[in-house]
Amino acid sequence: MNQPLPGGVASINAPSYVKNQKLIDWVAEIATLTKPDSIYWCDGSKEEYDRLCQELVDAGTMRPLNPAKRPNSFLALSDPSDVARVEDRTYICTQKQEDAGPTNNWVAPAEMRATLNGLFDGAMRGRTMYVIPFSMGPLGSPIAHIGVELTDSPYVVISMGVMTRMGRAVYDVIGANGHFVPCVHTVGAPLAAGEKDVPWPCNPTKYIVHYPETREIWSFGSGYGGNALLGKKCFALRIASNMGHDEGWLAEHMLILGVQSPEGKKHYVAAAFPSACGKTNFAMLVPPAGLNGWKVTTIGEDIAWIKPGADGRLYAINPEAGYFGVAPGTNEHTNVNCMLSMRRDTVFTNVALTDDGDVWWEGMTDEPPSHLIDWQGRDWTPQIAKETGRKAAHPNSRFTVAATQNPVLDPAWDDPNGVPISAFIFGGRRSTTVPLVTEARDWVEGVYMAATMGSETTAAATGAQGVVRRDPFAMLPFIGYNMSEYFQHWIDIGSKLQAAGATLPRFYCVNWFRTDENGKFIWPGFGDNMRVLKWIVERVENKAGGTDHAFGITPSYGDLKWDGLQFSEQAYGKITSIDKGEWQAEVKLHTELFDKLKYKLPAELESTRQKLEKRIA
Ligand code: OXD
Ligand code: MN
Repeated sequence: MNQPLPGGVASINAPSYVKNQKLIDWVAEIATLTKPDSIYWCDGSKEEYDRLCQELVDAGTMRPLNPAKRPNSFLALSDPSDVARVEDRTYICTQKQEDAGPTNNWVAPAEMRATLNGLFDGAMRGRTMYVIPFSMGPLGSPIAHIGVELTDSPYVVISMGVMTRMGRAVYDVIGANGHFVPCVHTVGAPLAAGEKDVPWPCNPTKYIVHYPETREIWSFGSGYGGNALLGKKCFALRIASNMGHDEGWLAEHMLILGVQSPEGKKHYVAAAFPSACGKTNFAMLVPPAGLNGWKVTTIGEDIAWIKPGADGRLYAINPEAGYFGVAPGTNEHTNVNCMLSMRRDTVFTNVALTDDGDVWWEGMTDEPPSHLIDWQGRDWTPQIAKETGRKAAHPNSRFTVAATQNPVLDPAWDDPNGVPISAFIFGGRRSTTVPLVTEARDWVEGVYMAATMGSETTAAATGAQGVVRRDPFAMLPFIGYNMSEYFQHWIDIGSKLQAAGATLPRFYCVNWFRTDENGKFIWPGFGDNMRVLKWIVERVENKAGGTDHAFGITPSYGDLKWDGLQFSEQAYGKITSIDKGEWQAEVKLHTELFDKLKYKLPAELESTRQKLEKRIA
């Protein structure tokens, strides 16, 4: 197939194994609009990955790290203005504004299409347009879905190659008539004839646009992961949450882990945490000495797709194939498995470069190196940091690495049927009020816990620090439709499963972050979170005790196993106490959230709020 395109732009050049005419026509349509110099159909091979990495090195976007220190690894430095997701430029474009709801930016589809058609017209001039076929989830899995991303960024191609099942086999899955989600991305920086490119092209104008009704994604102006790797937040959460709503399943911002007891009994749990709450660390947790024989394994660390199985249980897959994680704070103590995952074959973005050609970030070692090149390519020393406060690595600097490099990867991580979920865990960062762990008494109380989840803002995000931001289900920026309808969808899934006689997963709310009078964390966290996880799976098996209170059920001191840790009953009291005054203030904040979401808010949630209010009166 070598169809010429109008206007002197690249010929379509589709390989003979691409049989899907709808795909070929769409590629031609987008090429006609964006006017790239050429079109390249990615096959996902190792040769292709290596060649594009070399091209990125030649272009100055990436530099190879010292192969003796970190084989086959690279450091990419972005434009300083293009370092994070742009929530204020992210849109859910439904016909009716109420379908996007009060928590999403909304523009009518026709108006947005007119704007984007203008911006995308000629946006790929002077560049290659890459066609990236990818599967979210194991190829051919009944829980998986296919997407095709068109992009003019080779950095996006190599990253999608790590983060998804990308390549030629995807064309076999879609065949001649199969469905795919079309995803269009441009960095928005066309090149005039003879114009020299910059290392990280992007555009100050950015649009991350979703059309849920037609299941399309259009992204303009950014090369940063969350804005540009369209399989991740855009497809696997915002578009997939719409698919799940329409088809009776869940697309969630959750890690999935396996936890195995010394007797060999295994459970899988899914857990949602807002950013900066240790989600990746929890997904790769190393149980402490004292809990010998317990084992934690990772299915996924960011996103879960969860569907009811034929036996009535909920089964989850990780739709991704790699980790795009935050580097700062990761070290041998906080997450040794993550450090081991990154020993080779890793792309780092916006971390610092050491003098011997390796990488460094704040928190990687107790003592920083005496000299570094920082994420903006400038000299950095501890003295400069002291004088200017400048970080060597950007706080949102990242690593991109294949899941298969994780030494505690669960053997079922690629199972097309997914794994059965025994419990959902929700956790925020709260210095007061919320106990270490609480079990919901039923599904609706659990949905209430997740819906009212809050977390204190940290230095990693702009704005005031220590302010509690409500982040329902850790999905505030990722629900692709009306949040109240999303709550209703969760309630409906529970009622349906219950009516069918299924044993439902239980809900837990955790908080590792209560502080003492000096502002110090009381709970040791990290590996010791295993003590809480152990209690959770034992509750699921009806083997562990707990005490009822206003918000749910919390273990008493004697219900947790303390071997190998000096942690007094008094300290435990400080992280599990329920203060009436604090809870009265907390419920006021729940009321504020519900007022905002009043339209279509499930009645069950308002009645749960009223019950809680009565209990703490
Ligand atoms: C992420 C995020 O990058 O949640 O995973 O922002
Ligand atoms: Mn995330």
